[in-house]
This record gives sequence, C-alpha cells and structure tokens, in this order.
Amino acid sequence: MKRISFAFLSLLVLATGCVNRTPAMHPTDEPFRSVYHHSPLSGWMNDPNGMYYDETTGTWHLFYQHNPFGTTWGPMHWAHSSSTDLVHWTHHPIAIAPDSIGTIFSGSAVIDRDNTAGFGENALVAIYTQSEVCGQHQSIASSADGGLTFTKYNANPVLKGDIADFRDPKVFWDEQSGRWVMVLACQQEVRFYGSPNLKDWTYLSSFGAGYGNHEGVWECPDLIRLKCENGKCENEQMKWVLLLNINPGGPFGGSATQYFVGDWDGKTFTCIDAPEETKWLDYGKDHYATVTWAYAPENRIVAIGWMSNWQYANQLPTVAFRSQNTVARDLSLYRDDAGGYRVRVMPSPETMALRGEETDCLGDIAVVELELDGKQDALITLSNDKGEKVVMNLDVHRQTFSMDRTASGDCSFSHDFAANTIAPLFVKRDAYHVTLFIDHCSVEAFDGEGAWAMTNLVFPSEPYNHIDVQGGTAKIYDIHF
Ligand code: FRU
Repeated sequence: MKRISFAFLSLLVLATGCVNRTPAMHPTDEPFRSVYHHSPLSGWMNDPNGMYYDETTGTWHLFYQHNPFGTTWGPMHWAHSSSTDLVHWTHHPIAIAPDSIGTIFSGSAVIDRDNTAGFGENALVAIYTQSEVCGQHQSIASSADGGLTFTKYNANPVLKGDIADFRDPKVFWDEQSGRWVMVLACQQEVRFYGSPNLKDWTYLSSFGAGYGNHEGVWECPDLIRLKCENGKCENEQMKWVLLLNINPGGPFGGSATQYFVGDWDGKTFTCIDAPEETKWLDYGKDHYATVTWAYAPENRIVAIGWMSNWQYANQLPTVAFRSQNTVARDLSLYRDDAGGYRVRVMPSPETMALRGEETDCLGDIAVVELELDGKQDALITLSNDKGEKVVMNLDVHRQTFSMDRTASGDCSFSHDFAANTIAPLFVKRDAYHVTLFIDHCSVEAFDGEGAWAMTNLVFPSEPYNHIDVQGGTAKIYDIHF
C-alpha cells in the first residue's frame, strides 16, 4: 500500500491496495447493498413516509413505500424501520397494507396528544393516500404501539379526491390556528386543509400557480419552519419553507426536490422568492421525495430523501432489493451572496459521527474531507483499477461544483443515468471545505457550510480505491459503524 502524501495545492493524492467491500449487515448481501444507508431487507422501496421521533424511547421511526412482492414498483404498502442513531436500522413487519379502498401511498404521521381524533391519548395517527383506479383519497389509521400495528379508521377515506393527482398528505399541529393542517400535493399546486380532529377536513388555500418549476407533477410536500443562521439574517430569524418534490422537471432530468421560502399565517402560504426562481434542495440526480421527521429533538429539522430517480429507479442493478435512502440531513436557513434565503443542508450529527479514524486508504465506504483552494479550480477524481471514475470539479470562475459519473461504472441500465450534475456555490469564499460520503453505490457531497448538497448513485464494478486531488488536499476517514 502506498502512503498518501498531503502537500498543498495542485497535488496528487493516491490511495491504493485497499480492502474489498465491507460486508453489508443484511442477510441478503450483495455488492451494491449500502452499508450505512437505510435500505429495505428485500423488495422494492420508494418514498420515506410517516417519519416521527419518539422522545420517550429516543427512537427515529421511518415508514416507507414498499412492494413486498417484487423489486419493482407495485402494490404499495407502508413498511417500517426504526433507529436510535439514524444509521443502524431495525426492520419491523409491514405496518399498513392495501385494502378495498386502494393501495397505500405516501403520507405522514402525528402523535395525537390530546386525543382529538378519539383513538386515545398519544395515539400515533398515520395519514396516507389511498390510490385506486378511480382516484386518490386520504385515509387515516391509528396505532397504540408506536407504529408496529395500525387499526384503520372505519369511516375511511377522510378526504376524497376530486382530481387525478391528489396525494401525499403532510399533517402537523398548527399553533397559529389551533388545528391540524394538511399539506397536499394536487397536480401542480399544493392545497392546505384544516381539521380539528384529523377526520373532518376543510379547504383553506392553495399555493403554486406561477411559482417555481412546473415541468412535472408536484408530489410529497412538507411545510417546515427554519431558523436563519448566518450574519446576514438580520432580524428575520425564522421563515417557513415549503418542500416540494417534482417529477419530472429536475435540474438534471427526472425527479428532484424544490422549495419555496415564505410565511405561513395559519391559513395561507405566501412565498417571498421571485416567482420565476426555482430553488433546489440538492443538486444531484438521486434525491427525491424528501420530507422531514415530526417531533425531532432540540427543535431540529431532520430530512431524509429517497436516493433514486423515477427515470431509472426500476432498473437499478441490484438483485434482492431496490433503493436506499440518503443519509439524514439537518436543515436550517442562510442568506446567499445575493441576499436570498436558502436552505442550509448539513449532514446530521449522527451522520457526521460515522467519520472514524483518519486513514491512508480509500476503502469501499469512507468519509473524505476536501480542502479546496478558492483561487484556482480543483479536480477531484475517485477511481478504481478498472479505470472507472467519478470526477468532481470546483470551478472558481463559474462558481460551481460538479460531479461527473459518466464513467463511474455500470451506466448501461438506462440512458438517463450517465450525467454530470452541477451546483452553484451560492457563497464566494477564499477556500472551500467539501465532505464526501461514499457508500457501496453512492457519493454524497456537502458544502462544509451547507450552502449546497449533491447526491448521486454510482455502480462501479469494484470499489474506488484511488483518490486524486488537484487544487487542494484530501483527508480520508474510516466509517465508524
Ligand atoms: C412519489 C410518489 C408519491 C406517491 C408514491 C407512490 O415518488 O409518486 O406521489 O404517493 O410515490 O408510491
């Protein structure tokens, strides 16, 4: 094994002779099974659903869209996993299965502390879309055991659809209006509904016409309140942010997450962004259906996304399962150089805790910390002995960071997979810190101050065991798992 030498600027960093793939923790082990990203034991997974944090046990619950009968999208169920650290996941039996009203599409979950719905104090109530040939409707089910088992409400659905795409309810208790509020994706807009009891819903308002990207169907919304955390925030410390997933229409084709910054008065969302501007939460190709946990501790807003893209999700080269989620990310707000509010995306502290000992050796799973000089371009190449590579570029003139996976390994399963994704830097600095999280089939890049994030799948025939950095330095860390 060669030692890595770190010199400053325009140097070559090499790490060779490293270990083979770290064994995955799952019984259905296979080369592209992620080690520290959440994935289903078997079968198909798409959107994360119903995420809530149970403060009594310190447990993060994650439900998700699941087809237990195959590795492609099919009859949707809610499957269930839980974790005390957002990286080790316990898999539970299926939580909610299809019935005569329809299959079980995406949605959210709340804790009904005051028993407004009559299912019992502190009942966990799931609110989800039921999809059938004639339409999409919202239904509810309650759980007295934290989501292990659910009882469906006997008068479902609670909100019948009047248009074809009428789905993905995100419900929260709104302090301003003293009622439950549902955010619902309805074709190319978001509708807000209010309810005193989770059963009777009244239309409040709509948002979307003329704002953001409309090249696809709007799906999986979320309304969150974020704190602004840099010097440019002045007196406006808190803003509401509407997360909105769209497919197709993403910046590099297919699926992506856009967001809108604004104010919420208990009835209406007012966007303060320029209507024609589209803000993306992530600048990779594989970051979709991103929503946040309810009741996260310490007022944190913690998000997770499905690490895939509908362009090729059903064709990914895995065998017993399909898809994984991104690492967890903590969200807040900052102001960019142009003065606009942007969502700051940082790997969650639990994700950062994966960073173990510094090592000479780029293994198949790793955290890489890059220090890049802000005065000259930087070129970062991850490669393996087969010549497969991921090439990243910090372009100081254009003020962009890009990731090219066109030669990253197997791209043959879809002509939409090979891509070079590009993020604006948003904030000009003298030097840039970038963190890479590498797992068996993904590279996630984060700006050190959370100004941008980039999530991409890769399918190398053997792990990348070389890293070459020009225009900066790299430190490689083991994954502490
Ligand atoms: C988003 C989505 C949702 C829907 C679910 C169905 O990926 O299309 O709108 O509820 O997947 O599985």
